[in-house]
Amino acid sequence: MSLLTGFETFVRPNEPLYVHTWLHIGGPAEFFATPNTRDELRAVVQRAAELGLPIHLLGAGSNVLVRDEGVKGVVVRLEAPAFAEIHVLKNIIRAGGGARLGHVISTAVGHGLAGLEPLVGIPGTIGGALHLNAGTRGGDIGQWVRRATVMNRAGELIEHDRSDMVFAYRQSSLDELVILEAEFELDTDSPEEIAKRMQKQWIIRKAAQPLGHQCAGQIFRNPRGMSAGMLIDQAGLKGQRIGLAEVSDRHANFIIAEPNCPSSDVIALIEFVRERVQDRLGVELEADIELW
Ligand code: EPU
Repeated sequence: MSLLTGFETFVRPNEPLYVHTWLHIGGPAEFFATPNTRDELRAVVQRAAELGLPIHLLGAGSNVLVRDEGVKGVVVRLEAPAFAEIHVLKNIIRAGGGARLGHVISTAVGHGLAGLEPLVGIPGTIGGALHLNAGTRGGDIGQWVRRATVMNRAGELIEHDRSDMVFAYRQSSLDELVILEAEFELDTDSPEEIAKRMQKQWIIRKAAQPLGHQCAGQIFRNPRGMSAGMLIDQAGLKGQRIGLAEVSDRHANFIIAEPNCPSSDVIALIEFVRERVQDRLGVELEADIELW
């Protein structure tokens, strides 16, 4: 039996991944699955395990760099509406792992629920944001979670309470295959006040960071007490190019990929930046973007 047998309605072979990533680069996935229900998701996860195929979960594609040769095995994306539902009950928001972080933030603001607004402008899905504990200096997503439902690589559902989840700088204990759903317990405030704070945050972020396609999230983690962007800037690397990839002039911890940029240019530029910063400033940078 192949991975496709019986799954033809939601699994495609050889799907180009560049269309699904913010950098808009990278080769194909051997199999690309967009299940419509939890049952379909479980079935494809279990089949991949039986066949010994590697399996990856792709969120919004804002934090991954796909190699030119593509990805072996199965890439799953929760793009069906069933995985992106958002429900509000008093001061609790329940959101599917495939819901966009931005939609959840605007829903919260509309209901007078405060806490997530500092995260405005961060791309990605709820699943991706939780997996990486997305955040800003104003706070991170992990601090607001009270429950999460995940699916492991055997296709089993697991419930996590606040007490068995750990969040730290750009990392979380939620490292099972799929984050299906999470609940956030938020503060209440007037929608106008929250919207004002959100707008302020948005303006600051827009002024400081390049947003949008052809660039992803920040490339390196901030070393303790320092800013990777400032270090790369101090090493004189703003505007540094390799092929069609360039260190952003606006904020040095972003890489801009021009149309048709191969993944290899971005990988080479990341390596170049890492070596230069190490040579010139003696600081070792660790990449934050995932290389697939
Ligand atoms: N700076 C420079 N040159 C640059 C970039 C920055 O001198 O090219 C200086 C800035 O002027 C500022 C300092 O470095 O004095 C810090 O910069 P910024 O405020 O932009 O913050 P950051 O440390 O670069 C972190 C997070 C961002 C988050 C912001 C705001 C990381 C890797 N980055 O950036 O998160 O939005 O703080 O809270 O943790 C992300 O992780 O992808 C991300 C965007």
